Amino acid sequence: MFIESPRYTERFGAVRINAVQRVVSLDSGFKSELPAHGAMGVMKIDEDTIKSFEGRMVVVIPIKDEKLKLFEGVISGVPHDCLVIVVSNSQTGKINRFKMEKDALNQICRYTMRNAFIVHQKDPVIAEAVRQAGYDDILGEDGLIRDGKSEAMVMGLLMAKVARKEYVGFIDADNYFPGAVLEYVRDFAAGFSLARSPYSMVRILWHYKPKISGGIYFKKWGRVSETTNKCLNDLIFSKTDFETEVIRTGNAGEHAISMKLAELLPYASGYAVEPGELTFLFESFGGILPEIDHEAVEQGIDLFQIETRNPHMHEERGTQHLKDMLLSGLATIYHSPLCEESTKRLILRELVNQGALSSRGKPPVPHFNAPIGKIDSSKFMNVIKEHLGVLYALHEE
Ligand code: GDD
Repeated sequence: MFIESPRYTERFGAVRINAVQRVVSLDSGFKSELPAHGAMGVMKIDEDTIKSFEGRMVVVIPIKDEKLKLFEGVISGVPHDCLVIVVSNSQTGKINRFKMEKDALNQICRYTMRNAFIVHQKDPVIAEAVRQAGYDDILGEDGLIRDGKSEAMVMGLLMAKVARKEYVGFIDADNYFPGAVLEYVRDFAAGFSLARSPYSMVRILWHYKPKISGGIYFKKWGRVSETTNKCLNDLIFSKTDFETEVIRTGNAGEHAISMKLAELLPYASGYAVEPGELTFLFESFGGILPEIDHEAVEQGIDLFQIETRNPHMHEERGTQHLKDMLLSGLATIYHSPLCEESTKRLILRELVNQGALSSRGKPPVPHFNAPIGKIDSSKFMNVIKEHLGVLYALHEE
């Protein structure tokens, strides 16, 4: 793959925020006499490097009642060497969508000779395992894991830890193009290969997000991401006095984290998770509030934002869903101890203008699921161990 060099890096304490890097070409061939790293502002990430990261990566796919065809397409796009972990919150009643997902995954895995895990978010075994590990944060009043995409991601992370993987990527199950999924994972690998620190994160920026209105047109920015980016950049500006546009991936659903960093982060509930990750990085490693991990501060945090070649097409869920997503995401910035009055005013103005909040309202205080590094993972593993066979996609009922 050819990718633009990280031409500009903005620093916020120990966080090295790399400006967006575009993928120039999806493949760079086998020839080694191509420009060395950095020549002409473009870097070659060779195939061996990409594969070496894929083999150490888990791809977590959260799913809730998506079309089976889309789910199958997503699985088929994940590079073979990655371990797939599906965390489903789909219905299990008379129409058992979870079972259909399991069957579909089983079939793909059998034909392609790979394995995967599939687990239901409401599986009492998982709830018991997290309870034993002292991780009650993620449990609802019914004693089971709460609903939400973030909660599914945390379950995926716990499973990735059981599988002893070094990197975890997150990819939504409602992606229309398997080729785009393949590219997301290659972009994750490319980003990690550029990291100087073992604490790193790669966030995907879509080239275009096509919309259909009369004809098809290629939209660059969604309203939610534009607003979230603006508020995150304002948070940085309020501390540095330099206006910036460096953050372009505030809502990146498709993103990946090195396990060392993933274990340190708390995860804001539901769809607040992605802006919440960035806010937390600025709080914990920005040098303003007390540090939470000395080694990570010493090594620094590498943040990459990679713009794909593929356009992104996924299921559309309507304006109320987008308003809820905006509100919960901006709430993580609003309630951050770093957030100045000026940024709070900006957030309130945006939320009210976009009809996501009443003029006297305040964003709700977000719930954060505690970092998984704090839990006793051996206790989690002890409970899971006995049931692991059932969670394999190749398990036949
Ligand atoms: N397991 C599980 N549990 N999966 C869930 C849940 C849940 O409670 N809720 C949603 N999902 C799955 C969906 O099935 C989909 O695969 C993925 O999580 C994302 O949910 P969507 O409802 O499709 O989100 P979206 O498309 O509106 O937003 C996505 O993109 C945003 C950036 O534009 C999400 O990834 C957001 O988190 C992201 O900010």
